[in-house]
Amino acid sequence: MVVETVVIAVWAMLPAYIPNNVAVLAGGGRPIDGGRTLDDGKRILGDGKTWRGTAFGTAAGVIVALLLNQLHDGFVGLSGIGVPEFPIHAAVALAFGAMLGDILASFLKRRTGRERGAVFPGVDQLDFVVVSLLLTFIVATGWFRVTFTLPVIVAVLVLTPVLHVGTNVLAYAFGLKDEPW
Ligand code: CTP
Ligand code: MG
Repeated sequence: MVVETVVIAVWAMLPAYIPNNVAVLAGGGRPIDGGRTLDDGKRILGDGKTWRGTAFGTAAGVIVALLLNQLHDGFVGLSGIGVPEFPIHAAVALAFGAMLGDILASFLKRRTGRERGAVFPGVDQLDFVVVSLLLTFIVATGWFRVTFTLPVIVAVLVLTPVLHVGTNVLAYAFGLKDEPW
């Protein structure tokens, strides 16, 4: 069923969706690259990737996974939908992978001459999902295979850009973010 697949996809990806949004709220302080530039004269990552944003974002994603674990049995009982429980290593991989994807995207943005905050269509919407899923596959292979079946992966890849654009437009509207992407 499509509804079931979508619910599982959103549930499984919540620990990956939360980190970037929390980083926007918690960010600031020392940039990860320490202000350093590469030979191309551009920053390694830029001021938009900070230690504090990354740490709080990752922690928030893990906490959300632990909260979902608490809600799991009640939710399955009520809905009959077999949403996953998160082993701690899967939770960490989903959350940190999302932050890492965003960081790698900034590295690519700087190498292609894009200033902080510049739009990078496609990459902005999917960077964190792809790296989050890859890291989770590496760190929690068995759990990944059971949870992310092909229909669920397809749902994630279709839904994520929609959710991502939606939340960023909201964050921009509320003045939490400098650009709506
Ligand atoms: N942020 C952070 N640490 C991260 C990711 C985000 O502190 N690892 C915070 C920063 O304050 C950043 C804001 O969240 O400015 C918005 O994140 P994002 O859009 O990813 O960064 P940009 O400033 O747009 O920079 P970039 O062009 O590198 O994406
Ligand atoms: Mg940005």
